[in-house]
Amino acid sequence: MGLVKLTIDGNEVQVPKGTMVLEAAEQIGIHIPRLCYDPDLSNVGACRLCIVEIEGMRNLPASCVTEVREGMVVRTDTPAVMEARKTVLELLLANHPVDCLTCEKLGECTLSQYCYEYGIIKSPFIGEKHTYELETDNPYIVRDMNKCILCGRCIRACAEITGKNIIDFSYRGFNTRVAPFGDTPLGESECIYCGNCVAFCPVGALSEKQMLHLGRRWNLKKVKTTCTFCATGCTFD
Ligand code: FES
Repeated sequence: MGLVKLTIDGNEVQVPKGTMVLEAAEQIGIHIPRLCYDPDLSNVGACRLCIVEIEGMRNLPASCVTEVREGMVVRTDTPAVMEARKTVLELLLANHPVDCLTCEKLGECTLSQYCYEYGIIKSPFIGEKHTYELETDNPYIVRDMNKCILCGRCIRACAEITGKNIIDFSYRGFNTRVAPFGDTPLGESECIYCGNCVAFCPVGALSEKQMLHLGRRWNLKKVKTTCTFCATGCTFD
C-alpha cells in the first residue's frame, strides 16, 4: 500500500493511502473533536464536528470522511474551524435536555465534554424541542430519545459489531429518531440486549437499566466478568 505525505497544523505526517484526515491527525497526537466517528465503526460524516480547513478547498470538510492526499495542507484549529464547531455544538444543544446534573452519563458524555472545551453554557438557538416519553419497556435498556443526537453510532454498532440490524433511523427531518423497524418498542423487537448500542452511545440517550442510580461512574469499580447471555462466554473488563 502506498504512503501519502501531508501537513497537519505545520507537522508533516506520512500515512497509508486511504487514511482519513482525522486518523492521520491522531497519529501525530492531534485530537480532532468527533461525535459520530468511532475507530471500530464505519465512517458516515454525520455530526460535522470534525471539520477542518484544507488548503484549496472553500468549504470545511468533515475530516473523518476526507481521505488524505499527497501534499495536502490541513489546519485543525483556525478561527473559522473553531467558530463552525462551536455552532455545531450549539445547534445540537438547542434540542438537547440540559439536565446534566441528574443524567446517568454525567462525566462520560462526549457532548458535554466538548461544550466544556468550547465554553458553551447554553445554546443561543431557540426552537421546538422533542418531548419523547422515556422508554423503559424492556428489561435491560432505557432509551431517552430526547437526548439522542442522531450520530448513528448505535445503529452501526448493532449492524457492524453485533451483526444485527434491529435499529435504524425512522421518520424524517425534525421527527427523525432511532427505532427498531416499524418504530416498535425495543422490547417487541428482535433485540438480543447485547449492550453494544449502549456502549457506543456518546451521550445519555441509552443507559443500562441495572446501572440506573447505582452511583456515578467514578464511584463504581470495574471488574473482569464473563457474560453468560449466550454460550460463547465472552470476557469483558
Ligand atoms: Fe466526523 Fe462526525 S466525527 S462528521
